[in-house]
Amino acid sequence: MPDLKQRLTELRERLTELREQINFHNYRYNVLDDPIISDAEYDRLLNELKQIESEHPDWITPDSPTQRVGGQVSERFAKVPHPAPILSLANAFNGDAVREWFARISKFIPEGRPVQFTVEPKIDGLSVVLHYRDGVFVQGATRGDGNIGEDITPNLRTVRAVPLKIPVASSRSGSHARSGGRKNVRENAEIASHALSAEAGARKATALAMTLPQTLVVRGEAFIETQAFEEMNAQIEKDGGKTFANPRNAAAGFLRQLDSRITSKRPISLLCYQIVAADRVGADRVGADGDTPRSQFALLEYLNTIGFPTTTIAKRFDALDKAIAYAESWKDKRDTLPFEADGMVIKIDDLDLQQALGIVGKDPRGAIALKFPAREATTRLVDVGVNIGRTGIMAPYAILEPVNVGGVTIERATLHNYDDIARKDIRIHDRVVVKRSGDVIPYVVGPVIAARTGQEKIIEPPKKCPYCDTPTIRREGEVAIYCPNRDCPGRLDRAVQFFVSKGALDIDGLGEKIAAQLIEAGLIEDVADIYSITRDQLLELDGFAEKKADKLLASIGTSKQRPLDRLIAALGIPHVGSVAAEALAAHFGSIDKFMRADEDELTEIEGIGPTIAASIVEWTQRKDHVELVARLKKAGLTTKAERAAIDRSGGALTGKTFVITGTLSRPRDEIATLIKSAGGKVTDSVSKKTDYVVAGEAAGSKLTKAQQLGVTILDEAALNRLLSK
Ligand code: IVH
Repeated sequence: MPDLKQRLTELRERLTELREQINFHNYRYNVLDDPIISDAEYDRLLNELKQIESEHPDWITPDSPTQRVGGQVSERFAKVPHPAPILSLANAFNGDAVREWFARISKFIPEGRPVQFTVEPKIDGLSVVLHYRDGVFVQGATRGDGNIGEDITPNLRTVRAVPLKIPVASSRSGSHARSGGRKNVRENAEIASHALSAEAGARKATALAMTLPQTLVVRGEAFIETQAFEEMNAQIEKDGGKTFANPRNAAAGFLRQLDSRITSKRPISLLCYQIVAADRVGADRVGADGDTPRSQFALLEYLNTIGFPTTTIAKRFDALDKAIAYAESWKDKRDTLPFEADGMVIKIDDLDLQQALGIVGKDPRGAIALKFPAREATTRLVDVGVNIGRTGIMAPYAILEPVNVGGVTIERATLHNYDDIARKDIRIHDRVVVKRSGDVIPYVVGPVIAARTGQEKIIEPPKKCPYCDTPTIRREGEVAIYCPNRDCPGRLDRAVQFFVSKGALDIDGLGEKIAAQLIEAGLIEDVADIYSITRDQLLELDGFAEKKADKLLASIGTSKQRPLDRLIAALGIPHVGSVAAEALAAHFGSIDKFMRADEDELTEIEGIGPTIAASIVEWTQRKDHVELVARLKKAGLTTKAERAAIDRSGGALTGKTFVITGTLSRPRDEIATLIKSAGGKVTDSVSKKTDYVVAGEAAGSKLTKAQQLGVTILDEAALNRLLSK
């Protein structure tokens, strides 16, 4: 079977390719602290490799990245062997995958043994391993390759959240709890002694009554809080330095500094979640479990009580579904956390059971990460378009090769301004990192320098306005570049006003003031954005109550039905007014054909002279316009003349589908014309999509079907009432 043989060869090639790629990305991530693909993309590669290897276990070699506890140890640091492997986590991307995980491991759980789950945030930071001897911090390491870490003790000493001596009196109350662990726990000792509740006091007493192990090795995640990160980047930007792409990279960079004085100035936080090793008091070896709790939830409390910052949002559940629901509830609330979390971790609470479950590759069987949708991805920067803002500011935006970021396809992203482009050295054709978080407009984080081919083109700020040819200006002390022409057709507010005007798409309720408000709020960067505005976004704006928001959304929705000629007119192509637009729509019949027309074809059309034709071609050839039209099409606007003819009436029956059956007072054709002239559609057969069946005398099977499907049935009088509305 040559086919099978070829498939196997291809699969092997893919396997080799995947291993090489993963090794390369491991190196970028772990050694250079400069990853060039997103975590989600890395996970995809690794999952693909795991899949191939699980189908062909004989192909697994010891050097496969799946066989290693990821990471590499840099020669720059002394090596620290970990007392136990510093493991990673398997990922699940939805609740079902978590249920499958539990079904898989249930086989290994003794019958009847009750299972509880502890759910914690998965902090997007850097694993650190902290060694204590007789309660004194003696050494701190990175994860390294999972078996051997890098000695970063001097750096960790400067991190105020790392307790230098334990036990430290502290509690989860006070500012520490609110900030999720930002404040140095030692600073909180005072607050703690006042604020300790009776319950927490009792817990603390229990914990301290447990003899502190002589050797204690604690694992936590070091990170930079989102706000601190943004403030830091803003300062770096002000000082003209190179900003960090994300908090994780920044934290990793600081902790792996050779000069700890630099680390000491950085706002590094820590949350701990694991005891890697604890000797029994008097035991002769490190790693024997001492008097530490055997429940993950209790362990977090214990760690916190003896002085380690721990998460304040961990919860324990006695059913997996409840654990999943809790983990998922943080998906929409992730921005309320003071740090960047890329998911939630669901752990078997019973640590003895967790240990007994063992590991697969580098992941413990007893825990799984339920990942949040990704916020970052890399893609190609195809071109740069320009929007002219209300005040004439020229705002560059990226035209991207479509890329999926957390379930949403992104084709455009803001580039902020030309200074930003220069500072980040973003070039056309670059592979770029794009980010979409919360309600923020997607933006280009920066280029992937390592992926450059030499074909990239430097982006120059335009000397002339691309819409009106007016020389651009730069005002003193400002980064922005302006088109000084007040009547510039490219000005966003004008474009929007024109687009929504009566002769164009006629969007009721989107007047000058509202348009300005939407532009100001960043909801509209070009006219196509009108169609992606959400109810929630509107409700956040001043003066928008539910009724007003719904009304505006309804008229935006209705505007999608306007005929093709109105859409062509709305584009604001110089010299193309409503008469020319009508001729163009009638001639081409679709926006696609119109966009592809050349000057020769255009000038053949009655009423289209060489000036209009040239203007059209100039407009339709621009990539950002092609892109704009594609987005309008995707938003569901009428882009074909056929539908346009029906929709032209904008009548009472717009969007409704009718079937006519039985004998009526007039021929069915006539009734159909009436319905169509009111914007309705008439079809032959009854289906779930049918809105109304008009039934006359002796109606047969169509009427029966309508009754079965619950479709509204009208007699002639009812239809007439509907038509006269
Ligand atoms: S538990 C057996 N818990 O996520 C322990 N990891 O993608 C396995 N991480 O390497 C890890 N928050 O650096 C655990 N609450 C948390 C975590 C967490 C962040 C990191 C950790 C790990 C990575 C796996």
